Amino acid sequence: MFKRFRRTRINPKLRTLLTQTRLSVDDFIYPLFIKAGEKGYKKEIGSMPGVYQMGIDEAVKECGALKKLGLYSIILFGIPDVKDSVGSDALCEHGIIAEAIRAIKTAHPDMFVVSDLCFCEYTDHGHCGILDLEHETVDNDATLDILGKQAVIHAKAGVDMIAPSGMMDGMITAIRSALDEAGFINLPIMSYSTKFASAYYGPFRDVAESAPSFGDRRSYQMNPANRDEAILESLEDEKEGADILMVKPALAYMDIVRDIRNNSRLPLAVYNVSGEYSMLKYAGAAGLIDYDRVMMETLLGFKRAGADIIITYHAKEAAALLQKG
Ligand code: PBG
Ligand code: ZN
Repeated sequence: MFKRFRRTRINPKLRTLLTQTRLSVDDFIYPLFIKAGEKGYKKEIGSMPGVYQMGIDEAVKECGALKKLGLYSIILFGIPDVKDSVGSDALCEHGIIAEAIRAIKTAHPDMFVVSDLCFCEYTDHGHCGILDLEHETVDNDATLDILGKQAVIHAKAGVDMIAPSGMMDGMITAIRSALDEAGFINLPIMSYSTKFASAYYGPFRDVAESAPSFGDRRSYQMNPANRDEAILESLEDEKEGADILMVKPALAYMDIVRDIRNNSRLPLAVYNVSGEYSMLKYAGAAGLIDYDRVMMETLLGFKRAGADIIITYHAKEAAALLQKG
C-alpha cells in the first residue's frame, strides 16, 4: 500500500480547491525613492532595472499608477540634497521625506504611506545614526534621541506607519514614547526587528546613495549565522511595543521567518531586498529563467514561510500579473 498523492493533482479544478497559500495585491508594500531636486526628475538606477529615483511630483504621479494596479501601500526612502554628520535633513519639518509624505497624502489620502526611519541616507558618513568615533561605530543612545525626533516629524507630516530600520537597541521603546508624548498614540510601528548585515543590500545603496563611507554595519546589523539571536531580536521588539515585526533580507532567511512566525503572534513582514530583486531581473534579461514565474514562486514562498506583508520591488509586476489572473 502507498498513498496516491497524485490523485489530487490531476484535475486542475481540484488543484485550485486545494491551494493553501495565495498571493494577493493586498500583501504588498512598494518602495519609492524620493530625491530632492527639480520638478520632473525621474531616473532609473542601473543596478535595479525598473526602479527609479524620483522627485516628489513624480512620486505623486506614480501613486496614481500604483492605485490602478490595486497597490495602495508604499514605503518611502529619501535622498536629501544636503547630508551632514547628524542627518539634519531627516530632523527638519521641510526635509525631503516630510515634504513627500505631505504631498502624497494630500494628493492621495487613500494611499497607506509608510516611512523608513533611519539616518544612513541623510548622514555624510552613511552610517545609520550619530557616530561614536572613539569606537568606530554608531552611538546607540544618542541615536535613539534623534530617532524619536524623526518619528514625530514624519507623524506630523501625516505618515500612516513608521518603520525603523537602524537596528539600534531600544529603538522601539524610544520611538513609541516619543510618538505617544506627541499625541500619536494610534500610529503603528513596523519594526525592522530582525535585520541582518547583508551583502544583498548592495544595489539599494546605489539607489538610496547610502553606502557607508568607512567600515560596514556589522556592529549594529545582525550576524547572518545566528538563529537564536534572530528570534530574540524580534521578541524584544514585540516587548518594546512594535505592532508588526520584520525579517530582512527574505530569501536567504526563510527559516528565520518561520521561526519568528512560530514564536510570536504579531503580524510579520519580510523585506524582499534589492539584491534579491536584481538577481531575478538580470537572470530574466539573460534568458536564464522565466522571470514572471520565478518572481511569483519567490513571493509565494515568503507567504508560505509565514509572512503577512511582503515589501517588494516586484509589487507592480506581480500586481499586474495577478490582475490578469
Ligand atoms: C536603511 C535601509 C537599508 C535597506 C532598507 N533600509 C539599507 C541598509 O541597511 O544598508 C535595504 C533595502 C534593500 O536592499 O532593498 N537602513
Ligand atoms: Zn540605515
